[in-house]
Amino acid sequence: MKKITFHVNGVKRSFSGDPELPLLLYLRETLRLTGTRYRCRQGLCGTCTVHIDGEAVRSCITQMNSLAGKSVLTIEGLGAGGEHPLQKAWRECRVPSCGYCQCGQLMQAAALLAKKPQPSDLEIEEAMQGNICYCGSYRRIRQGIKLAAGIKSKP
Ligand code: FES
Ligand code: FES
Repeated sequence: MKKITFHVNGVKRSFSGDPELPLLLYLRETLRLTGTRYRCRQGLCGTCTVHIDGEAVRSCITQMNSLAGKSVLTIEGLGAGGEHPLQKAWRECRVPSCGYCQCGQLMQAAALLAKKPQPSDLEIEEAMQGNICYCGSYRRIRQGIKLAAGIKSKP
């Protein structure tokens, strides 16, 4: 494959390997950015969510040949030292149970708040519905998003 260049968490990278390699594997195995986790590897669970040019995407079904000139953001680049408002809210609301899905949940929620700083319940529901949590932390995820957005939750 012709060499392509792109950015990951603000760092310029180049790649000339298998064009169909999933971004997920490049992040985890080449860059050792293992905060991006995976489960289904079929685009169905949201665990592997990262941002490309600000859009939440499933890195397990994103091929390297689609990245030329793009900017990838992973959980490691979301907030220095875990200080993104969502990360703080996640701690305050004690969102994670086992934690396995939560990097994907945070990246999905961060893409939502970047576009809709004060999302409605419906907008939260729609944005987050593709991110599966096997521990059922959905109520706390919604609380965390609202806290980060400065929206008062109903008691
Ligand atoms: S691992 Fe990518 S969507 Fe499930
Ligand atoms: S916190 Fe365990 S899968 Fe979501």
